[in-house]
Amino acid sequence: MTYQTKLPFPMPQINAPPPNAGYRERLAEALRQNFDFHGHNTAYASHNFHSFPAKFPPQLPQLFIEWLTSPGDVVLDPMSGSGTTILEASLAGRFGIGVDIDPLALRLGKTKISIVDFELAAQSGTRVWQHAEHHLRHNAITITSEINNYFDEETKKFIDYWFLPATQRELFALAMEIAREPDQTIRNFLELAFSAIIITKSGGVSLARDLAHTRPHRVTDKNPRSALEQFQKRLKKNLRGLTQFPPSTGYANLLASNAQITGLRNNIAELIVTSPPYAANAIDYMRAHKFSLVWFGYPIKTLAQIRRKYIGGEATNGITFLPMPPHANTVITNIAQLDTKKAKVLHRYYTEMTLSLKEMYRLLKPGKAALVVVGTSTMRGIDTETHTCLGEIAQTVGFDLIDIAIRHLDRDKRMMPARRNTTISSQIEERMYQEYIIGLYKTPH
Ligand SMILES: C[S@@+](CC[C@H](N)C(=O)[O-])C[C@H]1O[C@@H](n2cnc3c(N)ncnc32)[C@H](O)[C@@H]1O
Repeated sequence: MTYQTKLPFPMPQINAPPPNAGYRERLAEALRQNFDFHGHNTAYASHNFHSFPAKFPPQLPQLFIEWLTSPGDVVLDPMSGSGTTILEASLAGRFGIGVDIDPLALRLGKTKISIVDFELAAQSGTRVWQHAEHHLRHNAITITSEINNYFDEETKKFIDYWFLPATQRELFALAMEIAREPDQTIRNFLELAFSAIIITKSGGVSLARDLAHTRPHRVTDKNPRSALEQFQKRLKKNLRGLTQFPPSTGYANLLASNAQITGLRNNIAELIVTSPPYAANAIDYMRAHKFSLVWFGYPIKTLAQIRRKYIGGEATNGITFLPMPPHANTVITNIAQLDTKKAKVLHRYYTEMTLSLKEMYRLLKPGKAALVVVGTSTMRGIDTETHTCLGEIAQTVGFDLIDIAIRHLDRDKRMMPARRNTTISSQIEERMYQEYIIGLYKTPH
């Protein structure tokens, strides 16, 4: 992949690995580095095209990529979210492979790793809002009836609840103009600018608050901004991102699949850097992402079906629960004493993470590392101890646990899961602002 650099590229500085250290030693030393990255530039290239809860700073995968791989190696992220790992892999001259099941994550990741032509994107973006504006000015009544015909009843109900009629017309006019763009990469680029005006911390142009935290609530005193104006602004911002790419010889690809059974071949990856969803369904991606996906033609019913496949979802009927190792079992049992339903949700999460870790083990080359970044959650005031339990589970599928590093989140920047429990202890409260990097190693046999 080759990108033009139009501005000096603000490549972040990371420490160099110790010279002459063996692989395992380098992994252990990498886990002793400082992962806070507060004050670092995390918004270069396409990293800031769209908000994404629990996305990691680019410097995190970058450090492991630099320390543990060579140019041309495969770096895998089986739950790639906004695509941070695979973009960093390709910028470092590696081959990034991402996997995700979320339709918005797939659009976002694909666009972030694509070569988007600045001039074409700028021209097409201008055409979109100019045509949309013209259409709105002259055919507002037609747009209203087009909206009524376009959406099924359930989806229309959702839209009516969360978007004012004037906003619906603006968004529909924009979405229809974007759909006319024949070049898929440019179309995806415009879709992201569109989606980014809906999914924001404040809920953007919808009537929702807290959308980026994936716990939207409707507010009636909100006066949403003009979608047309917001789209223009966002487009400009994302176009600026296109000018901040370094030249790169790497490549990346993204697969729509399930992390538990990816369909990729054995031993494909020299490194895995990934972060699964939080336990306790603390971040419900689809709950927020449907706010923009409906405008790309997804019916609410289809999105509800996709949502069931997310790791750690709340539905527990029909799940085949796997037996858990001692510590995970104790945590689940403790929660079951207070709330059996919640304990089952956690058991589902650890079951699906067992299968995902097993799959990661299969996909990783022997003698290589997997880094799994997780936050912890609470259920009924009890810490799910996600990092300890996943470290334990990873060992049951064959990994060596090298270490678990802590990183302190930037409280001003990080989009944390919304707090649902105000009675938790201050120790657990503190842990909510930490993330854990579980360092795993696949021993050659
Ligand atoms: C914490 S986010 C990853 C964030 C990513 N590290 C980044 O920097 O943007 C977790 C991701 O796991 C994905 N996910 C959930 N269930 C999945 C599954 N069964 N298979 C693949 N991906 C899944 C979600 O869609 C979400 O994008």
